[in-house]
Amino acid sequence: MAAMARPAADPWRGRETIALVTEDVFRLSSRFAQMKSSPVRDILAVLGRGDIISFAGGIPDPTLFELTDFRESFAHVLEQQGARALQYASTIGEPELREQAAQRLCRHLPTTAGQVQVTSGSQEGLYLVATTLVDPGDVILVERPTYLTAVQAFTLVGARMVGVDSDEYGMMPDALADAIETHDPKLVYLVPTFQNPTGHTMSAERRAAIAEVLVRAGVPLLEDDPYGELRFEGAPLPPIAAQPGMARQTVLLNSASKVMAPGVRIGWLRAEGQMLRSLEIAKQGVGLQTAVTDQLAIAHYLATYDLDAHIARVADVYRVRRDAMLASLDARLPEGATATRPEGGMFVWVRLGGDVDSAKVLPRAVDRGVAFVPGWPFYANNPDRTTMRLSFVTNSPETIGEGVGRLAAAWGW
Ligand SMILES: Cc1ncc(COP(=O)(O)O)c(C=O)c1O
Repeated sequence: MAAMARPAADPWRGRETIALVTEDVFRLSSRFAQMKSSPVRDILAVLGRGDIISFAGGIPDPTLFELTDFRESFAHVLEQQGARALQYASTIGEPELREQAAQRLCRHLPTTAGQVQVTSGSQEGLYLVATTLVDPGDVILVERPTYLTAVQAFTLVGARMVGVDSDEYGMMPDALADAIETHDPKLVYLVPTFQNPTGHTMSAERRAAIAEVLVRAGVPLLEDDPYGELRFEGAPLPPIAAQPGMARQTVLLNSASKVMAPGVRIGWLRAEGQMLRSLEIAKQGVGLQTAVTDQLAIAHYLATYDLDAHIARVADVYRVRRDAMLASLDARLPEGATATRPEGGMFVWVRLGGDVDSAKVLPRAVDRGVAFVPGWPFYANNPDRTTMRLSFVTNSPETIGEGVGRLAAAWGW
């Protein structure tokens, strides 16, 4: 195919190496010494271009949002609870939403509304937990690879991230035990189900083994589960927090973003005892409260409409798109390259192997009208640069086929 015209300012070029510096009166904190230009912001910049087929963002397909139900929910809140919705409110969150969240958590893990803190998306939860526990230099153990914006949030509080070897079933228990012994971490961060970026899901046996290591060592877990309900096949797995002894030493994050809509910025966390109270104080300092209108609208939506039916509709669409992406990759990927086969979520993780650097291929891919996220930002250290993350959820099967064709041309497959 003909190469697409290069945009006037290529938002990708050189980003990786540009540390954030400012030359004016603002003297950035030492935490920013480690910060690179935000890969997330760069991804969103590329998404704005109409001529690009983007496999880059972990962004739900907006045509699947339940607009009518949301319209009714927000109208209900403003008409029936307007003064309350527009007023300051408690930091811990609105009782109706905490109750709905507890009910959903109870499917796998006994939870009361009193154990739930509402957050402005799970991203805020990541920051709150890190800021509550981490002093500069403290270690957080993460998967290899891990969610890149968690790395960003943890860097902001001065954490030192150490990647622990992980395979197709998630973090390896022996490697975790060794890393705990060596690094005395404050926290372990895991995305056990349909992981971002790999799409991997930790097996039931692995969950039990990881829990055993954590309980024995007395190390807390930050379990991030925004994708778990977005399952296309196979049986649901309870969170690691539901393993014996883990509920009290886990902060479990859930989010409305991937199963309802990310624009509302609603998530919730489950924690117990003093940790829950500390997180509430941290949130007070960060943002006082999550938007009350959004909380009440989501609570009404959850009480009134069938979220499970919505998720099933979305999963049906995403499953077909995953299959289209895997089939196209299967036909195109060169010898020795691998692609994961996720049972849900949003991502396929491709590993090319050899010594090719996916970040160097990206500008060429953008030239040809396709975008992906290079693998390096997903690693706390020693990145495998031959990797890339592809999201399959926002494009039709035909567009996915076309996009993979453009990728192949950019890579020279
Ligand atoms: C693993 C993981 N955690 C957290 C988030 C943040 O989601 P949100 O703040 O929208 O709930 C994302 C978003 O992509 C994610 O992939």
